[in-house]
Amino acid sequence: MSASGGAPPPAARIERPAPTIRVRHLSHRFGALDVLRDVSFDVGPGEIFGFIGPNGAGKTTTIRVMATLLEPMAGRVEIDGVDVTIDPAAVRRSIGYMPDHAGVYDRITVREYLEFFADAFRVPSLDVVDAVLELTDLGKIQDRIVATMSKGMKQRLQLGRILLHDPKVLILDEPASDLDPRARIEIRDLLLELRSLGKTIFLSSHILTELSDVCTSIGILERGRLVVAGPIGEIAARLEALRAAQAHGHAPPRHAAAPGAHPAEARHAPAHGLGEPAAVGPQQAEGPPPGYGPYPPHAAGPGQAPAYPGLSPLSRRKVKVRVLGDPEAAAYLLRGGPGITDIEIVAGAVHVGYVGNDVKIAEIVQHLVRSGIGVIGVEPERNELERIFLEVTQGEVQ
Ligand SMILES: Nc1ncnc2c1ncn2[C@@H]1O[C@H](COP(=O)(O)OP(=O)(O)O)[C@@H](O)[C@H]1O
Ligand SMILES: [Mg+2]
Repeated sequence: MSASGGAPPPAARIERPAPTIRVRHLSHRFGALDVLRDVSFDVGPGEIFGFIGPNGAGKTTTIRVMATLLEPMAGRVEIDGVDVTIDPAAVRRSIGYMPDHAGVYDRITVREYLEFFADAFRVPSLDVVDAVLELTDLGKIQDRIVATMSKGMKQRLQLGRILLHDPKVLILDEPASDLDPRARIEIRDLLLELRSLGKTIFLSSHILTELSDVCTSIGILERGRLVVAGPIGEIAARLEALRAAQAHGHAPPRHAAAPGAHPAEARHAPAHGLGEPAAVGPQQAEGPPPGYGPYPPHAAGPGQAPAYPGLSPLSRRKVKVRVLGDPEAAAYLLRGGPGITDIEIVAGAVHVGYVGNDVKIAEIVQHLVRSGIGVIGVEPERNELERIFLEVTQGEVQ
């Protein structure tokens, strides 16, 4: 960035890196059936994006376009800046695609399977196979015949296969369906590890909560239309803002804010589908709100939330805090504090309702620790995604 005194960027603009996956106005039909209708969204670098929707919503069709296996009837898809219909070969080099219900060759060993595909992909070094065996934790069973492996292991082997050419982007169609809980946890951990290695991951699921805890952002597809897309926290905040505006009678109904409202050519398109994004972003991290200390009842009147710049006063959330010793002591310290809306003790944990974002959680923990309370666990409300889903979808299936 230039230090020579150029005009500062507009304050309200949140800079985002160029998207790794860029989908614009994607439409497709099979016969008379509109399978995809004007689908637009972005996936930023390093994200784990969950593409969620019921069976028949159009997830696999979208993925087949992304994987260069199907030419869309309208719209564009770019992977890492390359258009899938203009240069499919380049796109294939940068993606690892795992189809749903893919079979594996059964009568060879794990190592032979990976060596076969390394040859097929012209991956030069067999060290790559070792690296993939280690990453997928299949090294111990490298001499096992594929046919004797569990479904979860086969799924890891499939993931291993698509990692051989070290793709930047992973596109996984229903990677966790039909897996038992342990295998699902193992896949989840592997996805997190791959993300830490710099991969961008796009995965689909017809089960809302299946892998939601690893997703950094989501898109919800319903009957070929994208109802909402973006980081989970941002979507939640925008829903809150929209709800507040509706309560005051000056917002369009939720479903009128069509995905088509997406700013088609904005390079750094924000999450969309619910009208204007709320003013949430890095600026919130600038300094804690005043009023922390011994947590006296805050200055605002009863029921009135303190003002947090850029945040809807309706952004109420809950966090479960586990402490050493008596939870009543923690509850006492937090009750009536700034931004705290309610306190409840459930099964030994303090459930704290608050207004704000993650900065507030950090403040709550800091306050407890400074007051001599040992904090041993902090768990944000888990059902945020379920709330969003119920709110933005209408339960339509084709
Ligand atoms: N090759 C095809 N020919 C005709 N219809 C298809 C074809 N592929 C998918 N469809 C239909 O398109 C719709 C979306 O399918 P799909 O993209 O597989 O959804 P999802 O992956 O979300 O379950 C379904 O109604 C499906 O029957
Ligand atoms: Mg599918």
